[in-house]
Amino acid sequence: MALRLGDKAPNFKAQTSAGEIDFYEYLGNGWGILFSHPADYTPVCTTELGKTALLNEEFRKRNVKVLAVSVDPLDKHEGWIKDINETQNTNVNFPLIADPDRTVATLYDMIHPNASATATVRSLFVIGPDKLVKLMITYPASTGRNFVEVLRVIDSLQLTANHSVATPADWKQGEDVIVVPAVSTEDAIKKFPKGVKVVKPYLRYTPQPNID
Ligand code: BEZ
Repeated sequence: MALRLGDKAPNFKAQTSAGEIDFYEYLGNGWGILFSHPADYTPVCTTELGKTALLNEEFRKRNVKVLAVSVDPLDKHEGWIKDINETQNTNVNFPLIADPDRTVATLYDMIHPNASATATVRSLFVIGPDKLVKLMITYPASTGRNFVEVLRVIDSLQLTANHSVATPADWKQGEDVIVVPAVSTEDAIKKFPKGVKVVKPYLRYTPQPNID
């Protein structure tokens, strides 16, 4: 059955451009991103991997390990990574899984037969330190993902994992957040000393609690 939010992310061992990896060991106690690409030496994928590599410091700051997957074999990955580094002016510094037998693609339901019988779609999973699936997004082959948006969602996931808040539409780090419905306004006032703005009884804002 397909994975859903809150499910345990399946562990696997795989050959990658950085040697054999056990997924859980690679993630350690931090956060992780596992994302698939239709194929090596394709233009949109080239820009996606390049952009992810350029954002490496942002992922590192958030304690997120990145792992890419493509169904092409390792020798193909090696040449393609050189092209990505050259054309995207970066240094791909995360492993790229070689998944020719589609073990990882199948575990994570990354092949959608009505989109393509053989290639993986652009799936992206964010895995929490508890190894549960926190975010799943799926894009078609023709549309590159927005990795700044992925960072934004990770900021929200990491914030809401530790505080009784949710983040409104288009929220960005530093902006006001929403008090979750499970917390009464009376309790919210005690819990959030920076203040609570009640717009409606069900719509209450507070300044982001984990920053000064
Ligand atoms: C690409 O990554 O550029 C791509 C792959 C498959 C279909 C269309 C674009």
